[in-house]
Amino acid sequence: MNIILLGAPGAGKGTQAQIICERFEIPSISTGALMREAMKNGTPLGEKAKAYVEKGELVPDDVVIGLIRDRLSQDDCAGGFILDGFPRTIAQAEALDAMGVVIDRVLYIKVDDQVIIDRLGGRRVCKDCGATYHIVSQPSSAGEFCDHCGGSLIVRKDDRPETIRQRLVTYHEQTLPLADYYSGQGKLREIDGGASIEATTESTLRALEE
Ligand code: AP5
Repeated sequence: MNIILLGAPGAGKGTQAQIICERFEIPSISTGALMREAMKNGTPLGEKAKAYVEKGELVPDDVVIGLIRDRLSQDDCAGGFILDGFPRTIAQAEALDAMGVVIDRVLYIKVDDQVIIDRLGGRRVCKDCGATYHIVSQPSSAGEFCDHCGGSLIVRKDDRPETIRQRLVTYHEQTLPLADYYSGQGKLREIDGGASIEATTESTLRALEE
């Protein structure tokens, strides 16, 4: 199955993608994670992306589309994949269609903006492996260190309050129109992302079985 996870920053796309990819043994591809990796390694892509990511704006379409085209051509995507954070504009969705990629389901994880602000304020990520935690809803059992690799937990630079506000504006203006785009294709399923992580997973799995 080829799946897209659509939703605001902090809606829980990455959290659910991790669970689904383990369950179905398909890769989860996060354009945000690919950007952060490139930024950490100081590659040309990372240098280009940095200014946009840290301001809460979208990286230009041509950059992200090229990245996804390369990633989807890899062998591990042949049996299905989850796209977390792509497409994020109508132009990106049209580019995916033009590549001949057939999407089976688009799961729209819907969460109120106020909940988003609270969630992102409490998010912590491992600086080494990128695993995601939340100080209340998903704490690490190792305190300020990662359960998986022991790395230190940090606040993502784009989780500062002013950047969160800009990311929400960007989301409403440029990404939310994708809900209508995929609803028109009969592929959209709405998930209540305001519930607990476990309840959201149940809704997600039900939507994939329909
Ligand atoms: P990206 O990394 O994709 O960021 P995002 O979409 O803003 O999404 P997040 O990673 O912030 O949130 P999420 O929905 O995955 O939530 P999470 O599961 O972590 O992109 C970063 C940047 O890269 C963009 O701003 C842009 O600049 C650039 N970029 C990326 N893709 C691009 C593209 N296609 N085009 C152009 N530019 C692009 O959960 C959040 C927190 O809540 C966590 O702490 C988690 O533990 C907690 N949590 C999750 N679910 C629940 C729940 N149900 N209840 C309680 N807590 C929960």
